Amino acid sequence: MSPPLFEPLALRDLTLPNRIVVAPMCQYSANDDGSANDWHLVHYGSLSLGGFGHMMFEATAVEARGRITHACLGLYSDANERALERVVRFCKASGNTSISLQLAHAGAKASHRIKWDGGQPLGAGERPWAAIAPSAVVTAADTPNPEALDRAGMRTVFEQFETTTRRADRLGFDMLELHGAHGYLLHEFLSPLTNLRDDEYGGSRENRMRFSLEVFAAVRAVWPADKPLGIRISASDHADGGWTLEDSTVYAHELKALGCDFIDVSSGGLTPAQKITLGPGYQVPLSSHIRNKVGIPTMAVGMIVTPELANQVVAEGHADMVELARGILLDPRWAWHAAEALGGKAAYPNQHARCRPDLWPEAFPERDFGDPAPNV
Ligand SMILES: Cc1cc2nc3c(=O)[nH]c(=O)nc-3n(C[C@H](O)[C@H](O)[C@H](O)COP(=O)(O)O)c2cc1C
Repeated sequence: MSPPLFEPLALRDLTLPNRIVVAPMCQYSANDDGSANDWHLVHYGSLSLGGFGHMMFEATAVEARGRITHACLGLYSDANERALERVVRFCKASGNTSISLQLAHAGAKASHRIKWDGGQPLGAGERPWAAIAPSAVVTAADTPNPEALDRAGMRTVFEQFETTTRRADRLGFDMLELHGAHGYLLHEFLSPLTNLRDDEYGGSRENRMRFSLEVFAAVRAVWPADKPLGIRISASDHADGGWTLEDSTVYAHELKALGCDFIDVSSGGLTPAQKITLGPGYQVPLSSHIRNKVGIPTMAVGMIVTPELANQVVAEGHADMVELARGILLDPRWAWHAAEALGGKAAYPNQHARCRPDLWPEAFPERDFGDPAPNV
């Protein structure tokens, strides 16, 4: 019997061959106004060969102002679309996984330096831009005040999400995720710590959820009905007076009613006052709660590194998919190794298939491979 981690999963018309998902990871390498380049081709191209159930591309901005840094990926121009087409073409022609894009708007966390250059807000000589947010609230001590969005500005953001969704479909992405986590624009509307509005987009939880639910509905309306759409959320701000798991449960019910196919359950990232205890699978209980209270597929993410833990998360019904970020940077062939460890099957490209250990068993005299398995 196949281990649960290696069971297929159907989301609308898309079937994932296993439950292992490459998590979205900003590469901060799109130095030419948001356009992908050789780095993205090699990074995603290589990962697309690894036998993963699914691969998500990094946070991709719906407008230039929605980038965290000058080097964040964007999909707001024809040039961006042309550049990304080259990367997608390779993944689709040669890869063995379906792909999605994470649509993002950084909100108040825009206009910063790349992490490895210090991560501070851009200074006067560094081409900074005015960030937008639900309210002119400073979240981190060194972050400048963002501009509060007015109604016209909010309409513009809706249109940008819609236009970018059409571009992602045209490029051939199989699935889409909205970035609604980590203190970026959609999350800023949800949290009472960053949303101090007194109109119908602020105040009560219902009002604070309105903006992101409207964005979700707008994207769902233009994204093809046969393709899955999900959202990454921060299930808790882990801070006094912030967004809570209980809020997320209500929010997930609303998202489900709008046709949301999965919730990608992360947490935190909104306020430096957050208190999180880190450890293997530390966000799994949040995923488990939402999945089982709301009855919606979830992805669990966060310090899931061993195949055994990943398999356990799925086997025990805490999540439908398991996402890895750093574990996959550490071992880009993680899915092959997990298949070996658990007795599952992951796809190899023909060009690399001869490295599968059971095909040259003499090199591993200590191991018993039983009957040779067919390549999948
Ligand atoms: C290099 C790097 C870039 C990341 N970029 C994104 C991103 O673009 N979007 C996002 O939602 N999370 C991003 N994250 C967070 C990861 O997707 C993931 O949630 C987090 O790293 C925890 O998973 P891990 O313990 O397997 O690394 C990033 C993480 C890393 C390490």
